[in-house]
Amino acid sequence: MGKKRLRRAKFSSFDRRSNSEEPSSSTTSERRTKSPRRNRIRSTILFLLFVVCPAISVILYRRISSPSQSVSETDLPDVYRRGLVKADVNYRQVLDEHVKVSANVSRRQFENSVLAYITPWNSKGYDLAKKFNSKLTHLSPVWYDLKSEGSSFVLDGRHNADIGWISEIRMNSNAKILPRVVLEAMPMDFLTKKKQRKKVINLIVEECKKFDYDGIVLESWSRWAAYGVLHKPEMRMMALQFIKQLGEAMHGVSTERNGESLQLVYVIGPPYSDQLQSHDFGPEDLLGLSSAVDGFSLMTYDFSTPHNPGPNAPLKWIQSTLKLLLGSDNSGQGLARKIFVGINFYGNDFLQSGEGGGPIVGREYLSLLEQHRPILQWEKNSAEHFFIYLDNRRIKHVVFYPTLLSIAMRLEEARSWGAGISIWEIGQGLDYFFDVL
Ligand SMILES: *[C@@H]1O[C@H](CO)[C@@H](O)[C@H](O)[C@H]1NC(C)=O
Repeated sequence: MGKKRLRRAKFSSFDRRSNSEEPSSSTTSERRTKSPRRNRIRSTILFLLFVVCPAISVILYRRISSPSQSVSETDLPDVYRRGLVKADVNYRQVLDEHVKVSANVSRRQFENSVLAYITPWNSKGYDLAKKFNSKLTHLSPVWYDLKSEGSSFVLDGRHNADIGWISEIRMNSNAKILPRVVLEAMPMDFLTKKKQRKKVINLIVEECKKFDYDGIVLESWSRWAAYGVLHKPEMRMMALQFIKQLGEAMHGVSTERNGESLQLVYVIGPPYSDQLQSHDFGPEDLLGLSSAVDGFSLMTYDFSTPHNPGPNAPLKWIQSTLKLLLGSDNSGQGLARKIFVGINFYGNDFLQSGEGGGPIVGREYLSLLEQHRPILQWEKNSAEHFFIYLDNRRIKHVVFYPTLLSIAMRLEEARSWGAGISIWEIGQGLDYFFDVL
């Protein structure tokens, strides 16, 4: 029990923030009840002033402050009132509670931008996006690949575009729909050739117009790194120039629906070390692109690998990544607004030996909990929960999967920078995760 208290106290900073208005309001009511009352007899006045009034005000203060506490308690997401956002959570609670969400699914807890990725191979995400649409400001269905084809280019993936779903979202929400486009095309085919660059840009802009998208999320950096583009200064510059050109072209087009210009969100990976390498996306790149790019989807996940099992996204690593990109004093405050700090809604089931394993989604996690009834442990350094189990060949596995507390702490981190978040991807999470968003 004592242990429980201690842990709760440690993480109570979340509660404190949402209760911040409470003290001032109760002081005002306290003052009001202290106002003197007129009476003919002086002693009565004094008696009233010094004995009755304070007594009343104490009683009133207690009365007033406790309801006001419960008011702010009802302001807290359901999962907080159910006591689920904590370090010593057990597997039973997860199994029993994960499908229950606040009755009011439109109340937002996290006020900055929330970009949600949705994949066609995890169709649950489409439904969750509809259900929790008011909590999500940007939706990025993972639909397109832009490829080289002979001397030209094609935008592959139109068959994924789900018009019915788009119109349902549009009816109930203002969330921007920005399908993800991976730039698979050979970079040498277009980066160095003005005409070819233009073709690529046109393909993207025309697709946005045709399907009434609000823009796109572009992923190309990792591909360019793989092709060696980023190791050559001249090519690297051309690559950045291309992103700028694309952003400017998109900003030059406004949608018929709301007259807003098309948006470009660019996917960036966290630098691999404190010493920036040429293939890392660094603070200068961020600054250089900031006027042409509307947001940066920062992939702060996949820190550990099957060969090096461990937490998916240690909080300190997220912090140092943000520091590196924005400056330790958050001097890039205007830029922080454009960053969508990546949060994983999937987990990993690794062999502890470092010889295998890989990502798991919510339902796989739940079935492991049911099967093995493990003890969930809180790893303070990374701010993630994990558990260990033996499979039927007696091989040890270590499983990291997000929990309400791990997500809440990452939201708090993003909030402290003034940044938004991006979720990879909503169909892989548990329903009650949305309560803290
Ligand atoms: C749900 O929350 C929103 C935003 O806080 C609020 O405007 C709305 O009135 C709430 N709806 C209900 C039914 O409580």
